Amino acid sequence: MSAERRVHIERVAALLGTWADAMGPAPAERSRWLKAAYLHDALRDAPNLDALAHGPAAADRAAREGETDRGVLDAVRYHTVGYAGWDDVGRMHYLADFLEPGRKFATDERRALAERVPRERNAVLKEVARWRLEWVVRSGWPLVPETVGFWNALASR
Ligand SMILES: [Fe+2]
Ligand SMILES: [Fe+2]
Repeated sequence: MSAERRVHIERVAALLGTWADAMGPAPAERSRWLKAAYLHDALRDAPNLDALAHGPAAADRAAREGETDRGVLDAVRYHTVGYAGWDDVGRMHYLADFLEPGRKFATDERRALAERVPRERNAVLKEVARWRLEWVVRSGWPLVPETVGFWNALASR
């Protein structure tokens, strides 16, 4: 894994820790959030995997290595596309992966969203999902079924 990837993962974990401090999940739940952060991009730099494949590959490897927490595995598996069946681990991790401060675009806008997460998690989740979905549509790529299902679940709340 590249050094750059490692610091990204550390920033995702740090942001989840900040949110956990503010939102007060039970310690075991906080640990689940952090576990997703540390697992999610483990194979992002693997030469034989494309951007869409590294989540499922990391989830499969974690499962083979003994991870049994379905919410953690689903957070990792679907972190690039979204997933309607996510519990809080998947949702919090999806937000942290996108809003961590080291990414080089829309820094102020993303920081403002990150600050709102503890009080308005679901509203921010919808904004981030919309943002990412707009990218996919504009790029001309197809939407995978998981992304459509994720958006529909958010939009119908
Ligand atoms: Fe990733
Ligand atoms: Fe990531």
